Amino acid sequence: MSDLLANLNAPQLAAVTLPPQHALILAGAGSGKTRVLTTRIAWLISTGQVGPQGILAVTFTNKAAKEMLSRLAAMLPINTRGMWIGTFHGLCNRFLRAHHREAGLPAQFQILDSADQLAAIKRLLKTLNVDDQKYPPRELMHFINAHKEQGLRAAQAEAYDHYTSRRVELYTEYEAQCRREGVVDFAELLLRSYELLQRNEPLCQHYQARFRHILVDEFQDTNRLQYAWLKLLAGRGSVTPRRRRRAFSRSATTTSRSMRFAARRLATCATCNASSSWRT
Ligand SMILES: Nc1ncnc2c1ncn2[C@@H]1O[C@H](COP(=O)(O)OP(=O)(O)OP(=O)(O)O)[C@@H](O)[C@H]1O
Ligand SMILES: [Mg+2]
Repeated sequence: MSDLLANLNAPQLAAVTLPPQHALILAGAGSGKTRVLTTRIAWLISTGQVGPQGILAVTFTNKAAKEMLSRLAAMLPINTRGMWIGTFHGLCNRFLRAHHREAGLPAQFQILDSADQLAAIKRLLKTLNVDDQKYPPRELMHFINAHKEQGLRAAQAEAYDHYTSRRVELYTEYEAQCRREGVVDFAELLLRSYELLQRNEPLCQHYQARFRHILVDEFQDTNRLQYAWLKLLAGRGSVTPRRRRRAFSRSATTTSRSMRFAARRLATCATCNASSSWRT
């Protein structure tokens, strides 16, 4: 175990061995934040504070997730295969595959990447004979994704003028097309997962009980929906769908606010700011 901690500097060591509490770790680029998260996972497991299945760790790139898993495998004699370490999209995909029926998805649902999504929207506009000069596909895609990232389905989207009301109709048509074709875009992976957790209390409680430690790398980059998803899993979000217009509170809009929230709610978040000093 001491081997695990041997190569850390003093502030890194302090962050890795924090008692179970919510913490936000701020340090400069390349200063070892991801390394701290990885080592903390190894430390939590090797000291018997949590089993590998009790960890939820979110990274921003597949590359970072892979690196975290391979570093962990090198540090601990455990099989990392089943561990919930990945990107938001990767983990939501896994979650939806496991619970596709409850999520209302076919078992073999396909994922649309951005290029696929754009192509799907172009095809939709063509089918509906919509002028794509007036409703540029790329712009419509951003409109749809921005709504999803705020937790808003077409039925909840605000049609504040004629043009937008048509875009909301197209959002509805797009959702219908995705349903017919059994496909899910990136934003949908998250929104579906979030909605399922929110409406299925036993399922949500199962995961809340399971994930004893939640670690988020590059926390400053989480969007509102990702943050709401984390909050639900951390056991502090609202599980009953009380709000109609907004699926979750506005209080997380600014990074600094959400960081303060995180410091209270999430186990450990690594993020970087301009300074290269370590703060916990
Ligand atoms: N105490 C240390 N001793 C030796 N090497 C270290 C130490 N801390 C970090 N490193 C190395 O520095 C490099 C950067 O670390 P890491 O990727 O964890 O930093 P980061 O803060 O997450 O970077 P980024 O800002 O790019 O996300 C890695 O190769 C890591 O192994
Ligand atoms: Mg990093």
